[in-house]
Amino acid sequence: MKNKFFTTLSILASSIVLFSCNDKQLTEVVEVPLPTKEEKITIGKPDDVKADPGSFEITKLPFAYDGLAPQIRSLTLETHYSKHYLTYTNNLNKEIASTEFENAPIEDILKKLDLNNAKLRQNAGGYYNHTLYFNILTPKEQTPKDTLASSINKEFGSFDNLTKQFKNEANKQFGSGWVWLVVDKAGKLQVTTTENQDNPLMKNALIKGTPILGIDLWEHAYYLDYQNRKKTYIDAFYKLINWEKVNENYKTALTQVKKF
Ligand SMILES: [Fe+2]
Repeated sequence: MKNKFFTTLSILASSIVLFSCNDKQLTEVVEVPLPTKEEKITIGKPDDVKADPGSFEITKLPFAYDGLAPQIRSLTLETHYSKHYLTYTNNLNKEIASTEFENAPIEDILKKLDLNNAKLRQNAGGYYNHTLYFNILTPKEQTPKDTLASSINKEFGSFDNLTKQFKNEANKQFGSGWVWLVVDKAGKLQVTTTENQDNPLMKNALIKGTPILGIDLWEHAYYLDYQNRKKTYIDAFYKLINWEKVNENYKTALTQVKKF
């Protein structure tokens, strides 16, 4: 009886020690300092990012990594710019080194490349598409003006109509791809889509043209901020469009129509 009492007491004491130990462990886990601000996990500045030596360099980001927050937050922008875009650029430079494309303009590479060359197709597209994407964003909401505004009204009926069509195409896009506003072979504005990293300059484009605006619909562009809420990302992106820059692209594209 005495032995049974001490055995029971011993088990009870062990349980208390074990429970206390577990409790302490749980407390310690909870107390591990987790990053609470994006600044703690942001590792650099856009200007610090450089492509490896080669034909193409990445475009300068016209704002800081937190410049588009809260619509597109620092971690998303940093990852997109300094990882995804940089990788496409480095890979493109490797793919064209010592080939006929080594000193060619990116537009020519895209128009001429063999679509069966998967690496060149993906990386040349990825480089061009992201270069455009990062150049047509701005922290301050704008609306089209000048030549572009007139053409939008003339060809779409109104800016609202263009907005509806663009957003509708973006929401319909299944899987990774892009939606574009392009100047087609006749000099007309059109909304069109491409899959993966293809774009309207390539031979397989449904509507060929020069992109003047594009939305990246790959999950890496929005998943950290919006998860499955793609529509919210599309609406947020649309408020970040630098229409002044798109207007510049438009005027340049019009001068190149005859080259198609
Ligand atoms: Fe992207």
